[in-house]
Amino acid sequence: MSVAEILDDLDYGPAPEGDGPARDWLKQHDGQTGLFIDGDWRQPNSGAWFETRDPATGAVLAKVAAADAADVEAAVAAARAAQPEWAALPGHERARSLYALARMIQKNSRLFAVIEALDNGKPIRETRDIDIPLVARHFYHHAGWAQVMKTEFPDRVPVGVCGQIIPWNFPLLMLAWKIAPAIALGNTVVLKPAEFTPLTAILFADICRMAGLPKGVVNIVTGDGSTGELIVKHPDIDKLAFTGSTEVGRRIREASAGSGKSLTLELGGKSPFIVFDDADLDSAVEGVVDAIWFNQGQVCCAGSRLLVQESVHDKLIDKLKLRLETLRVGQPLDKAIDVGAIVDQVQLDRIRALVEQGAEEGAEVFQAPCALPANGFFFPPTLMTSVQPASTCARVEIFGPVLVAMSFRTPDEAVTLANNSEYGLAASVWSESVNLALDIAPKLKCGVVWINATNLFDAGSGFGGYKESGYGREGGREGLSAYMKPAWLIDAEPIIEPAEQSAPIGIAPVDATGIDRTAKMYIGGKQARPDGGYARPIAGADGALIGEVGEGNRKDIRNAVEAARKATGWAVASEHLRAQILYYIAENLDARSAEFAVRLSALTGEGRGKARREVRVSVDRLFDFAAWADKYEGVVHRPPFRGLALAMNEPVGVVGVVAPETPGLLGFVTLMAGAIAAGNTTVIVPSESQALAATDLYQVLETSDLPGGVVNIITGDRRALGLELAKHDAVDAIWAFGPPDLAESVERASIGNLKQTWTETVARQWYNARISGGRQILGHATQVKNIWVPYGE
Ligand code: NAI
Repeated sequence: MSVAEILDDLDYGPAPEGDGPARDWLKQHDGQTGLFIDGDWRQPNSGAWFETRDPATGAVLAKVAAADAADVEAAVAAARAAQPEWAALPGHERARSLYALARMIQKNSRLFAVIEALDNGKPIRETRDIDIPLVARHFYHHAGWAQVMKTEFPDRVPVGVCGQIIPWNFPLLMLAWKIAPAIALGNTVVLKPAEFTPLTAILFADICRMAGLPKGVVNIVTGDGSTGELIVKHPDIDKLAFTGSTEVGRRIREASAGSGKSLTLELGGKSPFIVFDDADLDSAVEGVVDAIWFNQGQVCCAGSRLLVQESVHDKLIDKLKLRLETLRVGQPLDKAIDVGAIVDQVQLDRIRALVEQGAEEGAEVFQAPCALPANGFFFPPTLMTSVQPASTCARVEIFGPVLVAMSFRTPDEAVTLANNSEYGLAASVWSESVNLALDIAPKLKCGVVWINATNLFDAGSGFGGYKESGYGREGGREGLSAYMKPAWLIDAEPIIEPAEQSAPIGIAPVDATGIDRTAKMYIGGKQARPDGGYARPIAGADGALIGEVGEGNRKDIRNAVEAARKATGWAVASEHLRAQILYYIAENLDARSAEFAVRLSALTGEGRGKARREVRVSVDRLFDFAAWADKYEGVVHRPPFRGLALAMNEPVGVVGVVAPETPGLLGFVTLMAGAIAAGNTTVIVPSESQALAATDLYQVLETSDLPGGVVNIITGDRRALGLELAKHDAVDAIWAFGPPDLAESVERASIGNLKQTWTETVARQWYNARISGGRQILGHATQVKNIWVPYGE
């Protein structure tokens, strides 16, 4: 027998990692874990427990406390009580706590890795080499942010008490993504792990005690969705952070609407894995393995849609099938397996059902011809070909080791197919041409792009989605903003406006010459009559009629959104061009400043001096955003691997804006200029009482070469029009400045396409450029995309 034949015949023997220490640790908790509240273990108030199982065998690992309302109340109270002191500590002291946690995690890394593999079913190779090292790195990295917070963010303060709800696919890593930035920046937390995988969170709580973390800074409550709901609805929580399904994300957005809680959501995905014909196909095959068979495909950013250029499609599929034959499915603690167990029977059933449905819809199903363990929840790595883009398996997140493959002909077609999803979490692009890959990356509507790589993560690079994959980033500088708020918000006064503006709607009047002088809408760069044919009178401060504006309705909003959507050139126009146009708008407003001041003075009843000041600051603000248009650049992250991650600030898309009632001109101009400087297109509902200040801007915009559709203005009832904007699925973000009922209604209505929301119910200092200029607005007007570019042979 030749050596080659011997090697061919060699089989793997079992190489199990010992689970003795993990079992001993479970015994220390008497097989029954408690709630970690105010630095101590407690029994659940209800006396109720649930089981957590080893998915590879179905055996019960431990009984876990089910937290009820009283427990959540106690946890929130502990977090609240601890927060001021924790925030007041010098950053260095908080940093030391985070360093201590990082070291303790490293010291206990094998125990963590084994417990994670037991509780989740993922291979020990992954927990040991990926999850746990990333967790430690997260705490180290954020210890650094604690250290430099004061100097780097002098006008920011912690948000307060954070309610954090995490899923089961990366239990400890998701805990680290949530807890590390929160506590680094002076917040305290109540975290709920997923019901399938609570054990590493319990071990982490043990570590918090051992590391001497002050009581109440971290509280861990276990339970199912109902415990999560109690956290979401708790009135004394300031910020919610959630990772999980889009469906629950929607529910959380709805349940927290109008509560004033800030919210970040990291949701599902159906990420494309795009292979061009000049790619190194063997590397791409290994990439696919990491994209979809890593963690049994239970990865929110899994490359689950394989898009292959037609000319290499068959070749790649053949290579993939060969590779599939070598994948080994087996016991998670076996160091020589590639694919472990699915987290639970429920998830296994869901995967099976979706694969069956795919086959019924015409897909060809190929499965790795591997032996599955007799017990436990296992599913073979699966490849589905002959898949139509519209079929269920090509659209729905399967969250299992199932890849669907499709082909494309041209790069444009690849982009169209890739973006043909309501999700937008990640994408992988494979090509040996740097020109092609870097041309494609910005065109993909998603928060992370890996070039010739996949599933790379680092604490220093932001991760998060576009579209229905959620909003907010975790990791890096871009992830910090979720856990800080501007200091001026602390003392800001609430906005109080009458619930209904008393504006009788009338028939559009004509003047003595028979001409309709009603200020029209501004849609697609043209003045347009209101669809309903009604006008609303605008009275001056003395009650005398000054003019009329059109009364906008749903149809006007639809037309305006369509115009904003069509103005696609603006997002890809150079920053240099956008800057020039903003300068031009500023100059043209400046040239007509006297006229605007007269108008404002009549509308507000304030003296000319004040009105002149508002116009002057509005002109300044336009100059400010013109200046920023080509300076709000991204950063280059240096994650610990051979490569870079380019964090690009990209526009959000179509931004719907309900401008503040006052200051009518400055509020409008600030939000408009900030949004369009970043490359967004807008539909803006101006102040009701000062709408004429906005409609007077049409001519300024028209004479400034602003392309039609970039700014659309619809006058009328701010609440009703804001609601229409919030409901519209082609609007990507909604900003609303007004009383709490306005915030609540737009937040609640935003769930259709999970648009980003920025609502402010307190009086902003619009005149203060440090508060209302530059970065402060641009942060809301952009979303960060991280493009990972490896280098080296
Ligand atoms: P899920 O979204 O229901 O659970 C995630 C977390 O939210 C868990 O801690 C759960 O207890 C909690 N939760 C559930 N309902 C809640 C509510 N109403 N209020 C507050 N918290 C609540 O995910 P599940 O049911 O475990 O998995 C279902 C599907 O979701 C999967 O098949 C997969 O497609 C997707 N999923 C996506 C994840 C991602 O990272 N994108 C992670 C986990 C699941």
